Amino acid sequence: MLDHLTDRLRFLGAFLAHPRQVGAVLPTSATAVRAMLDPADVSGAELVVELGAGTGAQTQEILARMKPGARLVGFEIDPRLAQLLTERFHDPRVQVVCDSAENLADHLGGAAADVIVSALPYTSLDQRLRQRILDVLPGALAPDGTVVVIQYSPLMLADFRKRFRAVHWRVTPWNVPPAFLFACRGPISG
Ligand SMILES: C[S@@+](CC[C@H](N)C(=O)[O-])C[C@H]1O[C@@H](n2cnc3c(N)ncnc32)[C@H](O)[C@@H]1O
Repeated sequence: MLDHLTDRLRFLGAFLAHPRQVGAVLPTSATAVRAMLDPADVSGAELVVELGAGTGAQTQEILARMKPGARLVGFEIDPRLAQLLTERFHDPRVQVVCDSAENLADHLGGAAADVIVSALPYTSLDQRLRQRILDVLPGALAPDGTVVVIQYSPLMLADFRKRFRAVHWRVTPWNVPPAFLFACRGPISG
């Protein structure tokens, strides 16, 4: 309970410091996290990549679903949040990377991700940064992998459809604010 409150305050602090980078005032709800991850085969994955890990709302559930020996590389650009994640998740399967998601390939050692979990606030990011991040996603995903994304509007649908053959989406009301959940498969590379 105290952890929840502390996380909310830390998250709010990060939002007030960098509103466009954080893009939300509250961490994603546990119900929305489960609904977001359900379309992806996290339990069968060897490599999961998380973009915009924040205070770890998705990280916790990804680890609960991941098999022993699998790897989770979590990207978080805010050094304070990255430090919090490093301190919080004492799990040999996790590597927290304090770097921008656009550089994700630099940290994967040539491996492709079976699942990419993205909570980045695409619509509030600088347009060029957004394009660079979106452009690295197909190449970083295994051919039969899945990218799952949470957003607060349907605006990114066309951008995902340009880069993936199949894009499914739904709305979950169990989040503040209600969220759009996307599952993208069939990366179109090059
Ligand atoms: C909407 S919050 C999501 C946090 C958490 N995953 C959740 O759902 O509660 C977006 C997070 O993405 C991080 N972020 C923004 N731009 C980023 C980038 N270019 N690379 C990595 N992380 C970034 C922010 O610092 C913030 O923690």
